[in-house]
Amino acid sequence: MNNRVLIIGALGQLGGVFVDALLENGDFVLASDIHTPTPDQLNCDYVFLDALNTRKIKKTILKYNISQIYNFAAVLSAKGERYPMKTWEINMGAFLNVVKASIGTSVKSIFWPSSIAVFSEQSGLELVKNEVPMFPTTMYGVTKLAGEKAMSYFNTKGLIDIRSIRFPGIVSSSEPGGGTTDYVVEMLKAAKLNKNYVSPLGKNTVLPMMHIKDAVSATLKLMSIDREKISVSSAYNLGSFETSPQRWNKTITSLGYRLKLEFKEDFRQSIADTWPKKIDDSLFRKDVLWSPEFDEKSTAKDILKLI
Ligand SMILES: NC(=O)c1ccc[n+]([C@@H]2O[C@H](COP(=O)([O-])OP(=O)(O)OC[C@H]3O[C@@H](n4cnc5c(N)ncnc54)[C@H](O)[C@@H]3O)[C@@H](O)[C@H]2O)c1
Repeated sequence: MNNRVLIIGALGQLGGVFVDALLENGDFVLASDIHTPTPDQLNCDYVFLDALNTRKIKKTILKYNISQIYNFAAVLSAKGERYPMKTWEINMGAFLNVVKASIGTSVKSIFWPSSIAVFSEQSGLELVKNEVPMFPTTMYGVTKLAGEKAMSYFNTKGLIDIRSIRFPGIVSSSEPGGGTTDYVVEMLKAAKLNKNYVSPLGKNTVLPMMHIKDAVSATLKLMSIDREKISVSSAYNLGSFETSPQRWNKTITSLGYRLKLEFKEDFRQSIADTWPKKIDDSLFRKDVLWSPEFDEKSTAKDILKLI
């Protein structure tokens, strides 16, 4: 049977791409956000829905007989450091309200993305395994780790089925929403427009990244398998390739673009310094039987075509 999916925070970098993939899957999709979509932004029904409004979430679940929720409402890492209190309120409020509204309804499972921001220097940043010490350095990372602990509780108690992936930086043609890895998308846009780019991260700052199509295929696969196949109660690591601003520039120029790159490190550098250089996602690949389709070069090539 196809799913009846509610996407919360559907107008961000990830939401629209998930809408299209789920529609292609044959699912019913209802998108929601706290902004109004532009006329051609979404290919599905839309409702205005604030994730902080539990009553309205519940009403929407009941009205549309929703069976799955993808909860993307969040304030991301870089933006979150400017408003740490608000970041806690929105990220934890959205997480908890979606769970509260879903328990005892038609909702069978929830997808809630975590992030590599849960990690820290104590995690062993050269190659980060799934279960390691985590002392996040941003409020965003704190909310992701708190959400992971809470979802583990809900899963273990059998209250509701919540699934999660710690996404690396996502490379897409859609606009990034204020994270530390936004430069990967911004550099592609600058290259396409023949503009210069000033990188907020140092040239050799290596971080894990992933084509948005791979993030979507991994997530849809995770959401489609039996719960018994999932060996973690919280989130899975997920990786694809690693790059730095300098290496990404080399990749872009190897595709025939010219991009003049300068470096002006800002507060994002100190965030990136506490994030993994490489992710060990062997557990996810073993449990979910998934592997990425895109490497660094094919990611840049494909997204440049779409911009
Ligand atoms: N983009 C990445 O590289 C990345 C990496 C790791 C994890 N993630 C996670 O994936 C999810 C989606 O990320 P994204 O990049 O699309 O973020 P984004 O900032 O681009 O989009 C978030 C969306 O949530 C909406 N939103 C904010 N507050 C809301 C509220 N109260 N109610 C309803 N909607 C609200 C915003 O309007 C926005 O459209 C987030 O949980 C994020 O932490 C993203």
